[in-house]
Amino acid sequence: MKVGVVGLGAMGSGIAQLCVEAGLDTVGREVTADLGERARERIGHFLTRKVEKGKLESFDLALLTTTTELADLADCDLIIEAIVEELGPKQELFVELERICRPDAVLATNTSALSVTEIASATSSPERVVGMHFFNPAPLMPLVEIVRAELSSEAAFDAAYALGEKLGKHPIRCHDTPGFVVNRVLIPLLNDCVRVLDEARVSPEDLDAGMKHGAGWPMGPCELLDLVGIDVHVHASEALYDKLREPRMAAPPRLVAMANAGLYGRKSGRGFYTY
Ligand code: 3HC
Repeated sequence: MKVGVVGLGAMGSGIAQLCVEAGLDTVGREVTADLGERARERIGHFLTRKVEKGKLESFDLALLTTTTELADLADCDLIIEAIVEELGPKQELFVELERICRPDAVLATNTSALSVTEIASATSSPERVVGMHFFNPAPLMPLVEIVRAELSSEAAFDAAYALGEKLGKHPIRCHDTPGFVVNRVLIPLLNDCVRVLDEARVSPEDLDAGMKHGAGWPMGPCELLDLVGIDVHVHASEALYDKLREPRMAAPPRLVAMANAGLYGRKSGRGFYTY
């Protein structure tokens, strides 16, 4: 089986890493050769650490080809898109993929808050479009949501589910509703947590300690927002608010201000914490 991954940022490179680990031929596409090379180095680094720690016997990085040409995905069986979280660019990409890829290839999107059905609607073969929503960090989080869009075929859905299993994930089946399953719950919850920061006049450190030691979260909400990216979270909150009109979905002003100031969290070196 050959898998294509379009976009090798935090999510895409994590997904490509899972494919290599599962022994699958993988083609990763980035816009520049340099970005492709950096993703390859990151993947090599994490897999080497896993071998050093005795969690993985060996791996073959030669299974991963990086390219800047979408045409190199022509013979992939399943392609996972992990580019910028905007409808227009995703729709344009799916139209291109439909032109380039085999007619039986499954086209999956890793979108977290956009509609898979809307992405698929730009193509003339929406039956082969599904959602495969991974969680950050993709190599470590066991879940993948397999999302059935309005016109997804059974065959495409089953192929995505089977790939999720092959990658060692725990797939769950869901429909194309705003936020799917986890983000529908997690996004308003994280927004509530940030509102509590001000209401309860608590520090990020204490809120994080509270949720870790009082509710068993593996990391506190502020640490988690810094990991996900404040900009990514605000963007997803806005997308869900647009669709559901539930006040809890709207990003608190404090997060919007942080995003506007470039305090994105880990990736920019500063968010709630400094890295
Ligand atoms: N890719 C690959 N490997 C990575 C990695 C990455 N991005 N980041 C870390 N690692 C590796 C490192 O090699 C590290 O080992 P090293 O320090 O020895 O080199 C190792 O993983 C760390 O693994 P551990 O098991 O020791 O880490 P923890 O036990 O601390 O667990 C965690 C880390 C799994 C991230 C845990 O803290 C956790 O579950 N946090 C919650 C994360 C979460 O909720 N994510 C969901 C976000 S919401 C989302 O993604 C939805 C989206 O649509 C916005």
